Amino acid sequence: MNNNYAGSSLSGKRLLLGVTGGVAAYKAAELARLLTQAGCLVKTVMTDSACRFIGPITFQSLTGQFVFSDLWEADKASAMAHINLSRNVDLILIAPASADFIAKLACGLANDLLTTVCLARNCPLMIAPAMNRKMWENPATQRNISCLQNDGVIIAGPENGEQACGEVGMGRMLAVEALLAVVQQRLSNGLLQGKNVLITAGPTFEAIDAVRGITNISSGKMGYALAQAALDAGATVTLVTGPTCLSAPAVNRLINVSSAREMLGAVETVIAREKPDIFIGVAAVADYRAVNISPRKIKKTDQKLVLELMPNPDILAQVAYLPEPPFCVGFAAETENLEKNAARKRRQKKLPLLVANWAQEAMNSDEAALILLDDDGQHVLERASKQLQAGRLIRHIAKLYLQQQCDRKLNKI
Ligand code: C5P
Repeated sequence: MNNNYAGSSLSGKRLLLGVTGGVAAYKAAELARLLTQAGCLVKTVMTDSACRFIGPITFQSLTGQFVFSDLWEADKASAMAHINLSRNVDLILIAPASADFIAKLACGLANDLLTTVCLARNCPLMIAPAMNRKMWENPATQRNISCLQNDGVIIAGPENGEQACGEVGMGRMLAVEALLAVVQQRLSNGLLQGKNVLITAGPTFEAIDAVRGITNISSGKMGYALAQAALDAGATVTLVTGPTCLSAPAVNRLINVSSAREMLGAVETVIAREKPDIFIGVAAVADYRAVNISPRKIKKTDQKLVLELMPNPDILAQVAYLPEPPFCVGFAAETENLEKNAARKRRQKKLPLLVANWAQEAMNSDEAALILLDDDGQHVLERASKQLQAGRLIRHIAKLYLQQQCDRKLNKI
């Protein structure tokens, strides 16, 4: 077993760390220390309220860089600091991001240095929300978060747990190590530069009559996280998705489907037209569909109703069996004998890589523990957020894919 998944280096990267007013501001100091230690140049901008929780001198000492807080003072020190600070950085990370700051960002306010820098940015923006659970759950905050998501802002966390106020729930800032890994994932791109990746995600919906159907509890979270991680790695991404409640990442091509046969049709079309290098079948495709779909709503009676089902095509197997298949990755969600069933599926579907997880733990959850099965054996990815797992998985896929390409070239010589 191998569970060594150290992320790629942050050396030479430039990051602007925005610190807003919240108890978690003290954790941002540790984050600044770790980022600097990893070779990242960290410039810090603090809001007035952040300065009430922790002093700028702490960040200055840890990063070796002048810390900015006042809009007018910053512009005195360096002309147009409110614009220039966001130039030549690879990422702006706001940690912690308070509910108030999130609301300002969502409205596009620019009434202090940090909001102005964010509004004037020309680089990705990531926020690590941290607040009391009720503030997080408040519809206003949720509205602001989905608004920012739609604007392309990366939301890292929050997580569940004990809060500074003594309450327990969602709203705690992501642990510093996890945040560091998300940043690393975001900045260590280029692994799949120029590669075309096709991903299926979510459940399928198999109609029974005009208003009913068979589906499953897949949320699409893992597939969507993988699509984002593939984009972060520089790939061109096509996402074929069954019905989900999520807003999709900004992929190059998004194809919405409903049934397994529609999903197969979309996958075949993309493969014929775009010849993807990598195919990741994450979708929880329904194994069966109704033999007859009633065009009308089936009426209730007091009699038994027998539904006749027939098998659906196996999309992944069909792709993997092509004469020149893309590099195929499958998922197996099992409720028993996880490793044995997963290994059998990998053999049967002729997959270079199969990702196994427990259905009851992973499906419709924000987190998953994964076992990767490939020619080298098993690799365990301990339970973590699906965003983190997606980054790790994409790095593993890129490694195997590049190895396969290398082997093919050597065989031709
Ligand atoms: O055989 P099982 O459904 O467990 O296999 C899971 C893997 O196969 C997943 O990667 C899933 O996306 C894919 N699959 C598929 N078409 C099906 C059934 C599963 O592509 N009809």
